[in-house]
Amino acid sequence: MWFFFSSNLAYGEEALNFLENIPGKKCFIVTDKVLEELGIVKILTDRLDKLGKEYKIFTDVKSDPHEDDIMKGKEACIAYKPDIVIGLGGGSAMDSAKAIYAMYEYPEYKIDDFHPLNPDFYDLGKKAKLICIPTTAGTGAETTWAIVVSRLQDGVWIKLEQAHKGIVPQYAILDPIFTLEMPKKLTAATGFDALAHSLEGITSGWKNEFSDALALKAVELIFKYLPIAYEDGSNFEARDMMLQAAAIAGQSFGNSQAHIGHALGHSLAAIYHTHHGEAVGLFLPYVLQYNINDPNEANKSVDILGKFAKQLGWAKWDDDNKKVATIVIEKVKELQKKVNLSTTIKDLGISMEDLGNNTEKIVELCLQSGCTTMSSRVPGVDHFTKLLQYAYEGINVDF
Ligand SMILES: [Fe+2]
Repeated sequence: MWFFFSSNLAYGEEALNFLENIPGKKCFIVTDKVLEELGIVKILTDRLDKLGKEYKIFTDVKSDPHEDDIMKGKEACIAYKPDIVIGLGGGSAMDSAKAIYAMYEYPEYKIDDFHPLNPDFYDLGKKAKLICIPTTAGTGAETTWAIVVSRLQDGVWIKLEQAHKGIVPQYAILDPIFTLEMPKKLTAATGFDALAHSLEGITSGWKNEFSDALALKAVELIFKYLPIAYEDGSNFEARDMMLQAAAIAGQSFGNSQAHIGHALGHSLAAIYHTHHGEAVGLFLPYVLQYNINDPNEANKSVDILGKFAKQLGWAKWDDDNKKVATIVIEKVKELQKKVNLSTTIKDLGISMEDLGNNTEKIVELCLQSGCTTMSSRVPGVDHFTKLLQYAYEGINVDF
């Protein structure tokens, strides 16, 4: 049995008006200090004021949210007793809101209790509704069942990849007013996160017809609108379409799963604190090539990416999939350059010596990552080590 899940989505101009339809008087807003300082939180609170709703703002969310801060948020939420919880921000704020909301409903639970086999989380919603409002266009956290939480363990901020279908937000509001001021670098990095979700999703072990269809549309939109949003952040249509693309990609990979690009991205970031989108975007061409190089014929990545290139109009229908599968990878590299993202680990300013010193730890984290097992080709220590070396130098993966 398979099960497709998604948030209810309000999108487009004035999508924030959808708040009128959500019953409840007291809102607990989970966000971060930067968004408060930039006036982004005020856009939301002005609307809540107009609707006569009360609110309390929790701003202690950090990038790659720390477990301790989420637990503080849980206590603040329990004390406030809201009937609406709102996650406003990027993936960190929205993931934090998802965790805080679920633990408000079930205070006896902690982060380790977020796993697909916990039956109670299917029964959320007795105390409050959860709404997520993204202020970046990429993570798709407003549509997914996952929360990524950082925990300090043996001196390293490891990333816990927790998930439960019950914590998919009931509502997501995709209003471009929240992304119009996003800086160029963040626009590019988060856009590449959405691209990685789509392309890892179609080559994951859980790919399915629903996720494939959504990934195709997300990739089409990202290739068209990311360069426009990057060059002209005030372009409303591009911002609108990138928000939609990110949510579509979120619905796609939420139902198929990301794989080794995310395992490598999370593990590299655990050591170097690289932005999530930049890290997974950097690894994307390498892991796609690794998948299509699989000598095991049961791996269909060549046919999947070949067909994808044709569907996107990048190849002819009678072309050999072996020849055209790499077109998708070349297009990803072109787009990466167009929006000035790093294409190698060296570009991140990390020395070869430093990476060498940390490789064993990064590979260990990759092997522990739940994303790794989702790949249609699963690397061991040797291949993860080689993928890091190739990604450092920018060498095409030939193994
Ligand atoms: Fe991601």
